[in-house]
Amino acid sequence: MAGLLSSPQDRAGAVLSIDLAALTENWRILKRRCAAKDTGAVVKADGYGTGAVQAAAALKSAGCATFYVAHLDEGIAVRGAVGAGPRVVVMHGPNRGTERDFAALKLIPVLNTPEQIAGWRKYAETADILSESLVHVDTGMNRLGLTRKEFDAHIADGGFNGLHPLALMSHLACSEEAKHPLNEAQRKAFAEVLSIFRTRFPDAKASFTNSSGIFLDPAYHYDYARPGVALYGVNPTPDVPNPMLPVVRLFAKIIQVRRVDRATTVGYGATAAVPEGTKLATVSIGYADGIPRSWGAGGAGFVDGIRCPVKGRVSMDLVIFDVSNVPDSGLHPGALMEIIGSHSTVDDVATAAGTIGYEILTSLGARYHRHYLPAPTPIKKP
Ligand SMILES: Cc1ncc(COP(=O)(O)O)c(C=O)c1O
Repeated sequence: MAGLLSSPQDRAGAVLSIDLAALTENWRILKRRCAAKDTGAVVKADGYGTGAVQAAAALKSAGCATFYVAHLDEGIAVRGAVGAGPRVVVMHGPNRGTERDFAALKLIPVLNTPEQIAGWRKYAETADILSESLVHVDTGMNRLGLTRKEFDAHIADGGFNGLHPLALMSHLACSEEAKHPLNEAQRKAFAEVLSIFRTRFPDAKASFTNSSGIFLDPAYHYDYARPGVALYGVNPTPDVPNPMLPVVRLFAKIIQVRRVDRATTVGYGATAAVPEGTKLATVSIGYADGIPRSWGAGGAGFVDGIRCPVKGRVSMDLVIFDVSNVPDSGLHPGALMEIIGSHSTVDDVATAAGTIGYEILTSLGARYHRHYLPAPTPIKKP
């Protein structure tokens, strides 16, 4: 708005910094590791909370050629960000009546159900177009995709006629647990349907792995890899140290510091008792910014690397921290409390809140001042 004298960073309660150079480096790490011919990027849910348009544009500059989103509107936004060249795959498939928009923007639908297949075939016949699609077959997730019975019926009855499938796809349910028996059961089930599918569509490729699957045997990688969460710095291998670079940092401003002059309780519901002399800082972040209420129980922020446990409940816009161990010189209105950073990763916040990094990232709030650290510009050959 014209006429404001303060900067957005001055006005915001918290600053979210997103490192696009780390994001693109994470994509390269996954690409080097992955045997797939095409390592793409899942940028659904607004790029896992980091900003799909910024993330996709940076990844495209790094060489990523295939982007995956959940919804058509996400696909439209990503198409706008990456231009006409890259593939944009919409994993929820076409809602009835949206087929023309897919075709107009060259968005590739995943066909998950018999209804979506029938709808896409009908549209393709009337529009006389050769639009590509991915056919999703369920191999053990029981979420989206044709059942084995439905798949067999489509093969037997010509139910795939008129399609131009880029790939057959399936999704792993337990890939972050390397030894989970469902991984191998899904891989075998997928290999079987893929060989049948290729009797009908010999050129069809295969898409099977998410982030964690890239750290399983290369037999899981197939042709089109679909990593998401690892791009954004969450550990895809929870049992071993994180091979990915951190992408997200979140710092919230201290509004007020007080030292309590008697033993007392803190926050809504008076759930946390503190002894006389405790130094408390009230910080401008809350559950309306995506910090789970459950983080109140075991969470901590950091000031100058010093751990400051949360005291009491997370409220809508504020969290209270015990800053007794921080020297007064580090505590003043506007001083920053690290919520996510070098002392507390996305995974740490998730563990303390009893959830997963995916949920922390995709809940990142709309009120933060967002600061993008640019990816290095690729040097063009003279
Ligand atoms: C179908 C599908 N493929 C790929 C992904 C990416 O998974 P991840 O974020 O674990 O890499 C997801 C994420 O939920 C998904 O639903």
